[in-house]
Amino acid sequence: MSVGFLHKELEQIKDAGLYRRLRRVESDQGPTLLIDGREVVNFSSNNYLGIANHSGLAAAAKAAIDRYGCGSGASRLISGNMTLHEELENRLAEFKGTEAALVFNSGFQANTGVISTLADEGDAIFSDALNHASIIDGCRLARAKTFVYGHNDLTQLEDELKRAASFRRKLIVTESIFSMDGDEASLTEIVELAEKYDAVVMVDEAHATGVFGAHGAGVVQKLGLGDRVLVQMGTLGKALGGFGAYVAGSRGLRELLINRCRSFIFTTSLPPAVMAMAMAAIELVKREPERRETLRNNCRRLKEGLRKLGFHVDASESPILPLIIGDAGECMGFSERLLEKSVFAQGIRPPTVPPGTSRLRITLMATHTREHIDRALEAFQAVEESR
Ligand SMILES: Cc1ncc(COP(=O)(O)O)c(C=O)c1O
Repeated sequence: MSVGFLHKELEQIKDAGLYRRLRRVESDQGPTLLIDGREVVNFSSNNYLGIANHSGLAAAAKAAIDRYGCGSGASRLISGNMTLHEELENRLAEFKGTEAALVFNSGFQANTGVISTLADEGDAIFSDALNHASIIDGCRLARAKTFVYGHNDLTQLEDELKRAASFRRKLIVTESIFSMDGDEASLTEIVELAEKYDAVVMVDEAHATGVFGAHGAGVVQKLGLGDRVLVQMGTLGKALGGFGAYVAGSRGLRELLINRCRSFIFTTSLPPAVMAMAMAAIELVKREPERRETLRNNCRRLKEGLRKLGFHVDASESPILPLIIGDAGECMGFSERLLEKSVFAQGIRPPTVPPGTSRLRITLMATHTREHIDRALEAFQAVEESR
């Protein structure tokens, strides 16, 4: 078979202005990065608390390798269930205030696996229109009917819940802090609707873990909804600085996932170093609340500065700041010109965001200094003035 289709498809992507390429980072993941031999300030990371290069995490990982070696050798249900996996899960359950937790190899695998385990033929899933690709793919994998409601549109959600009265199980899935917009879902109201219409709720706390709530346990915990949400999912690779993901909830949920969840069952378990890093990260996040405070102050400083420059900036409390440019080409051009001025703010285009809403996704870190933020503001001003 001719492989000309590869080139054809790539041409189509280029023609649509949606071609993507990998950028190589030559340094560790700090508030500044070395890219193509140049130091740039990093406003494109989910390492919100700045601990991805923390010496405490590295020391924990090294000690775990010394004691347990590098790989786990098998999936959890074969011989890959090591002491560290269970120890981390106990710490995660304690951190989240749930009965139990289960570790996954990534947030992507957690979402696809959990959703397709909980919803099957005859069931209904209600998914926010701006949910992450991994949630969308989880809905695709599940044989249930998916109702997509407008972003945080509770009226539409309620209408759909009413229409779906005859379905067996009903699962509402939402992010708590939306990854590309940084806004917060109306979780209390969503939980109330779920209770009114006999549905269960799954919350993706990928961008809230470590950042929101007491000790950084997330928005569900901040709102006191832990007992009313069936699944709290989050990642270990963003604010927690490492890799992997977790699902927190009841013992029954954990048991069902161990028995049924294909993305948990049919994959080699995470290696010891990753478990040890995550445990060190949880302790650090609890012990150093000042990181969250500094992160918040950094957000305020950048947002105020951008507002003064005439940019439209939302009022959310999250470290994700979307600057909507609209056109994909223009957005990438803006991002490139910022990079020429040593400021890295990644442009985000469809299909990651809806058409016509291409944006610079600016993310703050606790380890940004005033100088970093001032440098960004100068660059934004210069690029905007030259448009
Ligand atoms: C909301 C959301 N859920 C899930 C994921 C996937 O998590 P991971 O990077 O651990 O696969 C991401 C990360 O991009 C995300 O933004």
